[in-house]
Amino acid sequence: MCGIVGYTGHRQAAPILLDGLSRLEYRGYDSAGLAVRNGKAATEIVKATGKLYHLADKTDQGRSLPDTCGIGHTRWATHGDPSIINAHPHVSGNSTGPGGGEGDSDVVGVHNGIIENYTELKEKLLRHGYQFYSDTDTEAAVKLVDYYYKKYQIGPVDAITRTMVRIRGSYALALMFRDYPEEIFVARKDSPLIIGTADDASYLASDAPAILKYTRQVYYIENLQVARISCGSVRFYDLNGDETSLPMTEITWDAAAAEKDGYEHFMLKEIHEQPTAVRDTLNSLLKDGRIDLSAAGLTDEMIRGLKQVEIVACGSAWHVGMAAQYVIEDLARIPVRVELASEFRYRSIPMAPDTLVIVISQSGETADSLAALRVARERGAQTLAIVNVVGSTIAREADHVLYTLAGPEIAVATTKAYSAQLIAMDVLAIQMALLRQTISQDEYVHLTEEMGTIPDKIRRVLEDKERLQWFSSKIANAHDIFFIGRGLDYAISLEGSLKMKEISYIHSEAYAAGELKHGTISLIEKNTLVIGILTQSQLFEKTISNMAECKSRGAYLMGITTNGNFAVEDSVSFTVYVPRTDEHFIPSLAVIPLQLLAYYTSVNRGLDVDKPRNLAKSVTVE
Ligand code: AGP
Repeated sequence: MCGIVGYTGHRQAAPILLDGLSRLEYRGYDSAGLAVRNGKAATEIVKATGKLYHLADKTDQGRSLPDTCGIGHTRWATHGDPSIINAHPHVSGNSTGPGGGEGDSDVVGVHNGIIENYTELKEKLLRHGYQFYSDTDTEAAVKLVDYYYKKYQIGPVDAITRTMVRIRGSYALALMFRDYPEEIFVARKDSPLIIGTADDASYLASDAPAILKYTRQVYYIENLQVARISCGSVRFYDLNGDETSLPMTEITWDAAAAEKDGYEHFMLKEIHEQPTAVRDTLNSLLKDGRIDLSAAGLTDEMIRGLKQVEIVACGSAWHVGMAAQYVIEDLARIPVRVELASEFRYRSIPMAPDTLVIVISQSGETADSLAALRVARERGAQTLAIVNVVGSTIAREADHVLYTLAGPEIAVATTKAYSAQLIAMDVLAIQMALLRQTISQDEYVHLTEEMGTIPDKIRRVLEDKERLQWFSSKIANAHDIFFIGRGLDYAISLEGSLKMKEISYIHSEAYAAGELKHGTISLIEKNTLVIGILTQSQLFEKTISNMAECKSRGAYLMGITTNGNFAVEDSVSFTVYVPRTDEHFIPSLAVIPLQLLAYYTSVNRGLDVDKPRNLAKSVTVE
């Protein structure tokens, strides 16, 4: 996944492009580049490998590029290694020069996504005399636009629409044409793209934080649309090249929300924003103390008639599904299957009538989850999206959508969006149970009131962070860490393990506590850290005995349990307590120490917490 930006107006473009790219670095950061021009015949192209600051240094923070129209790109490599030559922008000519330099090309472009049939396109273009300098799929797309542009002597919009018909895959493309100075042309399919306008300028970006400081007036360009962007205005076209219109949306959340607010890392800020994220999400789903899902268009009749729920997602969102499965089945008595989106999309799962497929996604752009959504719809299931980004592709393609109100989440490792998704699924489970009369009115009132205490209880868990910071310094050199639990505790252990892996790079596994003895316990040796999640009272003794099995083989034990459950200290060396609550909602509390433990361990190891290696915030490729 990559980040793209664009600007055309009366100000110097390069500093604005660099600023926008700095807010998209979470989308990929193994190389970056800019292309600027303002009417001069040639285009100035500058590229750099590594983090964005290398590009900023190379252009004197953009000051060395005086032009007023330009595009920029920060890359997460999918095709071709993260080298200068593979860095975007790419051109229709034979080279962008050793480090960028003068692009002597008619067409210059940047791209986020994957052109799946780029090899065949490349062969076609080679036959027509084009030469390729990079290993990227993007270069083939830019050259194909140029090919149609010259062959049919048509305008940029028509050359682009012809290209769109020909290519397969996903793209957010931003292109500049030598013959159309001070204009930028964009095309979109499945990769995110937002366009903003102000009185004296126009902007484009992969995500809103990149342009929010300049304008709140934005357009969510739709799939298979093209836009012609000039200074302060934009025109839209469909795949036939016919002009069409799009509503302008006003963005409401503020730029500060996308800044660090004094925290060392976005992740720590977002961990501390969880009480607010959970409270706001909860409040958006309650009206006068009663659950109201009308905004999603989920009718009572549909919910009563449900025979099966399929939850489909990736990564942490899938872990939310694993927790929600227990809650929905226990409260609403509906069978729930939880599927990895990357598996679901290729499995021939029989879809019974009256199945609801719930796709959970923070970004709303994850390629596997989007593909799974489309498969579910093709098979006739009703689909519900639980997403955090308004106007995201998954939100717009699902039959129904419930937004989490976590605000912009910048750290690659999700925390507040995960917690907001958890509470949204708890709300859904309770409403399903009430409508299907598997809980009484009194139980409904108890559950909704108890849910309302979760934000404050999360706040209380956060007050324990210094102990976790201390403990993390003891495990910073661990090689293997095991997270174990049963039932909901197992679902929580999945998230604890992923958090630790993705930001501390320590190998870790989450295991159903009862399953360890069927093989994996052979990995337990002296001082292996085993973290037991012990919040489900009915399963406490079972899990404690599994932990004792590990301890007898030399393991070092940590336990997370609820206040007052002091018996655990007879077994483990380090205990974290979370406030008592209805056990269905415990994941919202028990995950907090695990997030903090992973965060402080990563910091202790001197790692880049917000932008961990090899990862990207939203994986918009397969
Ligand atoms: C979570 O910390 C990871 N960054 C990753 O697993 C993420 O949850 C997954 O890629 C799904 O992303 P989405 O919620 O935007 O679809």
